[in-house]
Amino acid sequence: MCGVVAVIGKQNASQLVVEGLKKLEYRGYDSAGIASASCGKLQTLKSEGKLINLINNLNQISNAKLYSDPLIAIGHTRWATHGNISLENAHPLTSENKVAVVHNGIIENYETIKNKLISEGYVFKSQTDTEVLPHLFMKYIKLGNNFLQAGRLVLKDVKGAFAFIAMSLDFPNELFVSRNSSPLAIGLGDKSNFVGSDAHSIDHLTQKIIYLEDGDHALVKLDGVDIFNEYEEKVNRKIINIKAEIGLITKGGYKHFMEKEIFEQPSVIPQTISTYINSDSRIKINLNKLGFKNKNTLLILAAGTSYYAAMVGKYWIEHIADLPVIIDLASEYRYRKPSVFGQSAMLVISQSGESLDTLMALRHGKELGLSTNAIVNVEGSTIDREADFSLYTKAGSEIGVASTKSFTSQLVVLFIIAIALGEKFNNLKPNQIKKYCNYIHILPSAIAQMLNMENEIKLIAQKIKNAQSIIFLGRGLLYPLALEGALKLKEISYIHAEGFAAGEMKHGPIALIEDHVPVIMFLVSDGNEDKAISNLQEAYSRGAQIILIADKNCIQKASFAHFKIEIPNFETDFKSFLSPFLMAIPAQLLAYHIANERGTDVDQPRNLAKSVTVE
Ligand code: M6R
Repeated sequence: MCGVVAVIGKQNASQLVVEGLKKLEYRGYDSAGIASASCGKLQTLKSEGKLINLINNLNQISNAKLYSDPLIAIGHTRWATHGNISLENAHPLTSENKVAVVHNGIIENYETIKNKLISEGYVFKSQTDTEVLPHLFMKYIKLGNNFLQAGRLVLKDVKGAFAFIAMSLDFPNELFVSRNSSPLAIGLGDKSNFVGSDAHSIDHLTQKIIYLEDGDHALVKLDGVDIFNEYEEKVNRKIINIKAEIGLITKGGYKHFMEKEIFEQPSVIPQTISTYINSDSRIKINLNKLGFKNKNTLLILAAGTSYYAAMVGKYWIEHIADLPVIIDLASEYRYRKPSVFGQSAMLVISQSGESLDTLMALRHGKELGLSTNAIVNVEGSTIDREADFSLYTKAGSEIGVASTKSFTSQLVVLFIIAIALGEKFNNLKPNQIKKYCNYIHILPSAIAQMLNMENEIKLIAQKIKNAQSIIFLGRGLLYPLALEGALKLKEISYIHAEGFAAGEMKHGPIALIEDHVPVIMFLVSDGNEDKAISNLQEAYSRGAQIILIADKNCIQKASFAHFKIEIPNFETDFKSFLSPFLMAIPAQLLAYHIANERGTDVDQPRNLAKSVTVE
């Protein structure tokens, strides 16, 4: 993870770098730092914790001129991998106060390099893998190499997935940058240039962006950028014009971004819907582009919440299109030799489009000969650019670490894909298609109705906020929602939570039940509800505190539940088919209100980052 940013050739380079860092905090917020050069001196400033601490420090420095004058500056926001969260381990890391480096990723062979450098007299001040980079630069510069040559020698030494930016007092008008598996964008200005982990981090400075490709390195100068591929051949990479987002996204009166994003769902989902369905219920997804010429098995890969969306997608596609679907965690798929028998296409799902596990899985699938498709929220992200074909969720920027509106938008796209596949491969009749499309059009108002249940959910949150452990149960389409409810809760409230398929309880997890353990079940009448209610009864009999979020019929049948939240009255078929959308709302609200009651950092929970760019 980690975010890197750099400015060369503009007054106030440090301030401009800090502006970029504000947009990169989603990549990590354990510490932050900047380095700049002016009057032949390297200045570094670092702070533990969130970026705001660095900004406060910067504002307090009496000799603020030191930081407002430089024409060159680099900055970093950290998600710790090697070395604890401390000032020493915060970036930029330096060598002899002449070279400074900011780095995202991992240098896998750093220990060997470090031992060698120590034997050569270099002194290490941090426990990071990154610190080998400035020392290697120093070593090669001392040997008489120019910055480009030194950087190339560094690249020959290091192994791993990384993106880094280096500056040196010996070459005050140059930045050396390189990327290998971690994203890096270069922005082109007028007698000034910029670098950032993503285009958004530098879109306040320019709209002309070049994305480096894997293995590329570049010398970024005041008046131009020289880009080279892994064979050190000079290359031209495409210049893309991006639209700058106007200003920073605000909380719009909500206490947290997560809360705002939960409540945005009724207005965001219509954007996703209209992208893929015409007003006359015609689906605008070209299955041939998705690599679906024949009736083959579809492979879906993702991580975290996006994986739970994939689980729901599997149920829908198998039911509506009668097409086999294999799903896998991206991080698992990559490190085995999966059989591609009967497969021609893969679909990866990623909000950020930057999850390294998912990106690597996509590349693995490509190597195995599959056509690669992606459902992403961030247009221009690495996964978007590398996939053969992308479908955008159009959820708008999601700032809170917990995925909320991006999850339901992913579900919309998956449901529409299921209908399109059903039409092509399962003889789905126009009236059935129309019925499903009508369901989709009802979704925004159905979600708005579910959001009206907030007060009831808040009361439950207050009752169970001190639990040590909470169990979520679901069956069928709501099993993935049980997993999602547990993930949402644990990541922002730090309460241990597990999701189980209700029928699995008796195979082991029921041993966890003791007096007053909250057990939350999501349930709708789908013909199989009696089985789930029996599973719930089994937990009740062993002392669990039962919380049932369900429709009227299920609530009546499970009258033993301690707390019952009745969802609004929806048509039976709609409710049973689209229950994942409905139950996503209480799952999100419950996690949000429990975390809020406990006073945790809801938008930036500990140890996490919005975009997970390490394996
Ligand atoms: O950006 P992605 O969808 O690829 O992210 C995958 C997971 O890291 C993400 O869904 C994570 O689990 C969320 N923080 C869950 O709320």
